[in-house]
Amino acid sequence: SLVSSTPLLQHARENGYCVGAFNVHTLEMLQAVVEAAAETESPLILQSTVGTVKHLGPDYIAAAAQTAAKLHRIPIALHLDHCTDFDLIVKCIRAGYTSVMIDASHSPFDENVAQTRKVVEVAKAAGVNVEAELGKVGGVEDEIVVGEEDATLADPLECRRFVELTGVATLAPAIGTAHGIYKGEPKIDFDRIQAIAEVVSVPLVLHGGSGIPVEQVRRAVSLGMSKMNIATELRIAFSNAIKSVFDQNPEENDPRKYMVPAKQALKEMAIEKMRMCGCIGKA
Ligand code: 13P
Ligand code: ZN
Ligand code: NA
Repeated sequence: SLVSSTPLLQHARENGYCVGAFNVHTLEMLQAVVEAAAETESPLILQSTVGTVKHLGPDYIAAAAQTAAKLHRIPIALHLDHCTDFDLIVKCIRAGYTSVMIDASHSPFDENVAQTRKVVEVAKAAGVNVEAELGKVGGVEDEIVVGEEDATLADPLECRRFVELTGVATLAPAIGTAHGIYKGEPKIDFDRIQAIAEVVSVPLVLHGGSGIPVEQVRRAVSLGMSKMNIATELRIAFSNAIKSVFDQNPEENDPRKYMVPAKQALKEMAIEKMRMCGCIGKA
């Protein structure tokens, strides 16, 4: 059955690697990522954003993830990404999610603490992991839009206080990455990652994984990032493969045909990201 992501990420933090967390939007995307993890014996975090939960329904997503966990021997967690809505978090936990993110990063510190504490309380009872965000990650992730001028980095001492006050098991501090594809290279504040990791012992989460060059991912992981979220690049790989099927054969109308290269492209992309994370063979 699905596992909480807390022990997976603690093991990653203690052993200096990172677990890939993949945003999926369809059954085929979920299957492709699961196959990638199973073949490479990698621990896996499947994620859905609020938009995907609304699109498919939490019960369908949880059932598919549970099936994957039943069919494969690798540990699989199911995570709700960037949620601002307490009621939806409770609904997803009831549906079987084993990890949730309460994103109150747009609120002042005290309000972020209060909202996160409330989620930690309900999640703890269910054995579910909680992730929260400090500072504001820039870019566009579903319904959450943060302009470059509004993105702010997390303060290390605030991170420590935040973890103490909330008891949150995993923390996503904004350190210069952004959601979506970068124009040029990301400007990651590595000193800040190090400073945060020195005062916070819980696993840290790297958002905005798409487009980060491999050396920068490796460096961030070596400094204490234990989970990397990847969304945009997966969607692009999947969709581009479908587009090229229709470019070559505009008459194609069988999803069982045009989804095949899309799954394959996504699977290859996922394995590449798992290699970057260093989680291959860690299942
Ligand atoms: P990217 O879309 O840049 O991969 O970011 C993913 C993410 O952080 C999801 O929470
Ligand atoms: Zn994110
Ligand atoms: Na990104």
